[in-house]
Amino acid sequence: MNRMTKLVSMFYFTACLLLLTTGEASAKRFKIAVGDAAGGTQDALGKKFVELLTAKSGGKHSAKLFHNGQLGSEQDTVNDAALGTLDFSILAINNITPFSPTVGVFTLPYVILSLDDAIKLTQGDVGKELIDNTIRDAKVRIVGWAYSGFRVLTNSKKPIKTVADLEGVVVRVPKNEIMLDTYKSWGINATPMAWSETFTALQQKVVDGQDNPYITVHAMKFYEVQKYVTNLRYLFSIEPLIVSESIFQGLDEKTQKAILEAGKETTDYSAQYLRDSEAAIKQDLVAKGMQIDNPADNEKEFIDRATKVVWPKFYESIGGKQKLDNVLKILGRS
Ligand code: MLT
Repeated sequence: MNRMTKLVSMFYFTACLLLLTTGEASAKRFKIAVGDAAGGTQDALGKKFVELLTAKSGGKHSAKLFHNGQLGSEQDTVNDAALGTLDFSILAINNITPFSPTVGVFTLPYVILSLDDAIKLTQGDVGKELIDNTIRDAKVRIVGWAYSGFRVLTNSKKPIKTVADLEGVVVRVPKNEIMLDTYKSWGINATPMAWSETFTALQQKVVDGQDNPYITVHAMKFYEVQKYVTNLRYLFSIEPLIVSESIFQGLDEKTQKAILEAGKETTDYSAQYLRDSEAAIKQDLVAKGMQIDNPADNEKEFIDRATKVVWPKFYESIGGKQKLDNVLKILGRS
């Protein structure tokens, strides 16, 4: 071994020893994929998380948000995080379900009927079990939850107030079997499409409509290409922050703790963000020319059809009928 090689080896040995003694990794600048444009729930969650993670790590670690699907479609980011080529992603729960089917219990129509329901489920035992299942099945860990409100239906063709009004309207949905089957129960074949392609498809009239929460419709500027809104309440949108499990396991304990604590506090912040912003955003969409229709009197038909057909079809994938029964019991329903 020459003198130079000896020096390099000594330096390497000392660095490893230091890492083992302190148990600390070097400063990180994590990448966080964000499916939506800036200005919505995902953005609010992401910014808060970065702020808290930086503070909790004493300024050592930081993270950068990449909006608008720059790092891939939402479903692609789950794959990338599973492979360890992406650190974090913020995405809609329905885009995790294909990789971790038991999470589908949060995507079943008309199960979550309010923000309180969403909080109770995500932050209780059901949420804990789904976090474990998602690590097992999808190799990603949910470290925070964002709440975006109900997915309302928008379209450029006509007001939709009844199930029958859906006829002839081409609706984009995520590549999610539960959502496809929900529209099927209402009599139409929806078009599965990645989120990152949706604005262009609406603009070019490849599809007439889509569903997403008011905050997302606003952040994505869908009012530029959509006129009509149907105030559906079939799906309450939950948007988790996930971290690659292999990357998480490679971090020192202090950093893991900072991530988990930042995620928890960000979750609380997200609920308040929804309470504070949804009404004003809805008003602004009307000011921007959107027409909001309420299917109130006709909602029973939407509910009856979807729950009767879709729930039983997915009992097996969510882990059995008793999983849904338990969720409904927790929510005080039968
Ligand atoms: C989707 O429709 O694919 C997602 O809900 C979009 C989003 O994450 O906002």
